[in-house]
Amino acid sequence: MHLLITGSRGQLGRALRSHFSPSHQVTLWSRPTHDIADPACADAVADLAPDLVINAAAWTHVDGAESAVDAAFAANALGPKYLAEGCVRCGAALVQISSNEVFAGEAGCCYREYDEPGPKTVYARSKAAGERAARQMLDRLYIVRLAWLYAPGGGNFPSKIVAAADKQGSLRVVADEYGNPTYAPDVAAALERLIETKRYGIYHLVNEGCASRYDWAAELLRLTGRGEIPLTPIPAHEWPRPAMPPPHAVLINQAAAALGIRLRPWQEALAEYCATENL
Ligand SMILES: NC(=O)c1ccc[n+]([C@@H]2O[C@H](COP(=O)([O-])OP(=O)(O)OC[C@H]3O[C@@H](n4cnc5c(N)ncnc54)[C@H](OP(=O)(O)O)[C@@H]3O)[C@@H](O)[C@H]2O)c1
Repeated sequence: MHLLITGSRGQLGRALRSHFSPSHQVTLWSRPTHDIADPACADAVADLAPDLVINAAAWTHVDGAESAVDAAFAANALGPKYLAEGCVRCGAALVQISSNEVFAGEAGCCYREYDEPGPKTVYARSKAAGERAARQMLDRLYIVRLAWLYAPGGGNFPSKIVAAADKQGSLRVVADEYGNPTYAPDVAAALERLIETKRYGIYHLVNEGCASRYDWAAELLRLTGRGEIPLTPIPAHEWPRPAMPPPHAVLINQAAAALGIRLRPWQEALAEYCATENL
């Protein structure tokens, strides 16, 4: 199978490249050569004519999106539209990666695949718009929502927590925001199984179980031998951000699980990450 992976230098893009390169023909796109917000990328996809496009490119600076609305929507809404348009023209399928943040995330809620989105922030609205744009263009479409993604290579919550713990000697972490810590290499393996099914639709590919940011940090410190570092739980309002995240946008994997595709519990994946990164 010939795969096109966009955003190939990002966390998910790197994991996809490692997972699929040995067994498939893989074309890697990244900025600035391939900007998915450029309408010409529809022509480029049609000319390349892959079997499947996995769109791992996105504007992911959630707080920055609040003051860069046009740029966030260009990448996250128009980008999927152009890719889907290219797919229609060459007969390819598309995996559009989306986010748990498309849901409002009211306290105590957990979301299945066909629950109604209710995005709150600019980033979330742009991701929800990307889902709609791709659906309007293309039937051969997987919408795959992820949550709290991390991958080897740093620049994510676990790497920042370890760095801050070592620098400050103590930490305050939000304890009333919940999600599914999800390991990008596990997503790549699950995606391979999903695309083999050719059962298009909406999927939630997250590691099993949910956690607060505080739970995630506590497990990380324990796994890396930093369990003695004082960790104070705080409410989200004591850590104000330009884009306040949904408090409880926890995803349930029902659709992929029905096909036998489940990701392992988040604690097991985190242990592998810590070993891989030698934290
Ligand atoms: N990270 C999370 O916690 C999380 C949670 C839920 C869902 N997701 C979704 O998962 C996907 C992958 O996230 P990630 O964590 O791997 O993100 P990431 O590490 O920030 O990587 C995103 C990549 O997209 C590229 N990109 C941005 N705008 C682009 C454009 N217009 N054209 C082409 N490439 C562009 C970036 O390139 P530059 O390096 O040039 O900026 C970057 O390499 C995204 O769809 C995201 O919304 C992420």
